[in-house]
Amino acid sequence: MTERHTAVRRNRDADWDAWPVAAYLAENYRRIHPCDRGVIHHHSVFYRQFRPGSLARTLELGAGPNLYPLMLAAGASRHIDALEPGAAGLAYLRDQLAHGPDDSWQSFYALCRALDPSLPATLAEALTRVHVLPGHADCLPEGRYDAASMNFVAESVTEDRAEFTALCDTFVRAVRPGGALVASFMEHMPSYRIGTGPVWPACPVDEAALRAVFTPRTTGLRISRLAKDRTLPEYGDTGILLLTARRPAA
Ligand SMILES: C[S@@+](CC[C@H](N)C(=O)[O-])C[C@H]1O[C@@H](n2cnc3c(N)ncnc32)[C@H](O)[C@@H]1O
Repeated sequence: MTERHTAVRRNRDADWDAWPVAAYLAENYRRIHPCDRGVIHHHSVFYRQFRPGSLARTLELGAGPNLYPLMLAAGASRHIDALEPGAAGLAYLRDQLAHGPDDSWQSFYALCRALDPSLPATLAEALTRVHVLPGHADCLPEGRYDAASMNFVAESVTEDRAEFTALCDTFVRAVRPGGALVASFMEHMPSYRIGTGPVWPACPVDEAALRAVFTPRTTGLRISRLAKDRTLPEYGDTGILLLTARRPAA
């Protein structure tokens, strides 16, 4: 029988503790896909605008098991909070920090460090800047961070457009006035499966949707696009949208 979802599924309707870490890593992060290369180049340019170690505290919102955004922050940032609500994602992050990263992350780090030689000599050293922070986005205090990063979260955790907007708003307000923002979004992605698991709620967005949310909340908004990566499973997306902006100065 075909599965049908008629009611809009909100963030709290999905079991984030059961996020399928192993399958997600296998599908997305066990080797560098062309889209990863694109995101890493984009985010590396963002972080290289800051002197090494000049950001006291930065945020990775909805870190999940993806280590490369944390690597990229480790040059500029002295303290990276990896916020994650799900038990499975938290366990993976804690294990990587306590026992050393999986070998498959080394090629990601080599790319990050080739682009930004100010990154620490080893991935293990870079990860010493990372602090795992359990919690949902709505636990974040306002204005705590010098910069914040969010990758494949606001559009990939709810079907509710208002909740997508609220998550983006929380992301912007997590940084101090004048603080810097970098993010990536799946473009046009509907609710999706990882492997043969359950359907996870998503909210298809395009550049216009991002502009509608971020233009009134930020300054210096820049959005670019990566072509659909056909080396990934078919998630129904049409590519990736990359964003940088700043929270307006007070
Ligand atoms: C599609 S995954 C993206 C993971 C990772 N950022 C990446 O780049 O692959 C979405 C992540 O958002 C987390 N998440 C779900 N609801 C959240 C919320 N309300 N606040 C913060 N993170 C949330 C999930 O547990 C999951 O780790």
